[in-house]
Amino acid sequence: MAPFLLSQSMALLSLPLLVLCFLISVLVVVDASRSSFSSSASASTDVVTSLPGFTGPLPTRMWSGLVESLPGMHSHYILAECTAPPCATIAWFQGGPGASSMYGMFVEFGPLVFKGSDVKLNVNPYSWTHLANTLVIDSPPPVGFSYCDPAGPSGNGTSCGPWDDASTASVNDAALRAWAKRHPQHAANGLIIAGESYAGVYVPTLVKRLVENVHDPPPFKVLGAAVGDPCAPPAVCGVGNAPLFHVLFAHGHGQMSYKNFEAIMNACGGLSGLARLDAPSRFDGCGDALKRADVDAGKVYPYAEYDDCNHAGDPFRRRRSLLSEASEPRQWFLRRPSIVPLEEQPPPPPPFHAYPGGVASGGAPCGSLRALGAWLAEAETKTALNVPATSNFFECDNGGGFNYTLSEKNVLAIWSDLVQRMPVLVYNGDTDPGLNFYVTQNWTSKGIAGIVEREAWRPWTVDGNHRLGGFVTRYASEGAGRFDFATIHGSGHMVPAFKPVQALALFEQWMSNAFKRYAP
Ligand SMILES: *[C@@H]1O[C@H](CO)[C@@H](O)[C@H](O)[C@H]1NC(C)=O
Ligand SMILES: *[C@@H]1O[C@H](CO)[C@@H](O)[C@H](O)[C@H]1NC(C)=O
Ligand SMILES: *[C@@H]1O[C@H](CO)[C@@H](O)[C@H](O)[C@H]1NC(C)=O
Repeated sequence: MAPFLLSQSMALLSLPLLVLCFLISVLVVVDASRSSFSSSASASTDVVTSLPGFTGPLPTRMWSGLVESLPGMHSHYILAECTAPPCATIAWFQGGPGASSMYGMFVEFGPLVFKGSDVKLNVNPYSWTHLANTLVIDSPPPVGFSYCDPAGPSGNGTSCGPWDDASTASVNDAALRAWAKRHPQHAANGLIIAGESYAGVYVPTLVKRLVENVHDPPPFKVLGAAVGDPCAPPAVCGVGNAPLFHVLFAHGHGQMSYKNFEAIMNACGGLSGLARLDAPSRFDGCGDALKRADVDAGKVYPYAEYDDCNHAGDPFRRRRSLLSEASEPRQWFLRRPSIVPLEEQPPPPPPFHAYPGGVASGGAPCGSLRALGAWLAEAETKTALNVPATSNFFECDNGGGFNYTLSEKNVLAIWSDLVQRMPVLVYNGDTDPGLNFYVTQNWTSKGIAGIVEREAWRPWTVDGNHRLGGFVTRYASEGAGRFDFATIHGSGHMVPAFKPVQALALFEQWMSNAFKRYAP
């Protein structure tokens, strides 16, 4: 095991905003029966004693249960305690909108993860519980096992009404407060709010709400914020993207001949022309050159360039070509609401499998998502996770199946404020074709106010020796915060799933404010 794992609590102490202790109200433990799920639940009724698909004692203490977040709304959480408590808590929100955070806990960074299509949990040597307590919340209800009255746990995608970014931030705010009441001793060490993809909207809107509420501050300190491969309107998600970064990505990842690249540059007005959303209509021949290159580039899995799994049948995950889509304004979020009645939804995709000899990016085997889905459908899993037997596990990645409206128009303005107050990390896998690192590099370097570059783009290493993790650009803010943009070399969209070693190292190094260099 890597030596840095031994010094986690030291690392945490160097977070400048850590408050060692503060007043918390005394928890009154109600010894309730397990048959009642919300009103009389307590930390002790939420204990997870074992999990189907895993034999033997759990590697860390875990809790799972439902907290009443907003009136009539029940948010499902899972907490896995760090291996050397006390620790801060990383509170994770999956993207989507509508993706379940169970993926984070049971595929990406939790203590037990699926590693392929076998419905079997494996100890994760790179669990983030080596650094912090990890908390996942399924949001907004009815995502995952979260639900709303009166439809109850078996309700469908519309049973909690429509959502937008503001109402999602408010239910997550309430869910965290309710969780902190149930787990005051964990909440006392502070929270790092984190997430991936569409959580690039969830996280900053939630953190802003929490830290700006001076009249009713949350019962925990917000220590920092981190987002991976994030949406960041207006720079990315919600509006179309100019062709530039997709062209650079396809060219830079061996999907385009130099001849094609030159033809596009010449037809589309060079770098500055390609940076315009209207490049295909503005420059004669530009649209045709892009279309030609798009055919030549073939199709990739939009979450991981080098993934070799077969995702046919899943509309969001099958291989597609990104260039032509990128060059048209992609209004897929603005097209919401997209409510597909359950009975009209396409049948579940066939199990993912590798092409003969194929593996997902970074060597992760294919099929974890399917294994997770099968596991969550089992009655024993619901019992083990302390959710009602009638619970409908609802997932609607990319917003399909419920009514979600992108309402936050400017996340960059929120980041500009938050980087003054706390450490902020934005990271991106550099083989994620969709939300690619060129896009993220651009808005992080040009779109955030009040920061100055204190360390230009440089490699960071996993081990302080010769093992490359990725590249980091470090910024100081005028206030008490700081800001880092890091890439993870060779990682697709879901970084902890594709590059678990590097993801753990990245968080450890960010939390200890020291990105390791190459040994001379
Ligand atoms: C979705 O919610 C909005 C309100 O946020 C509402 O105006 C609209 O009618 C809803 N759409 C559907 C299909 O229910
Ligand atoms: C969801 O359930 C409600 C009743 O609770 C029903 O009216 C509605 O048609 C259902 N919607 C879908 C998409 O199945
Ligand atoms: C790069 O980022 C800046 C600041 O957010 C933005 O104005 C510009 O449009 C971005 N460039 C591209 C090509 O998206």
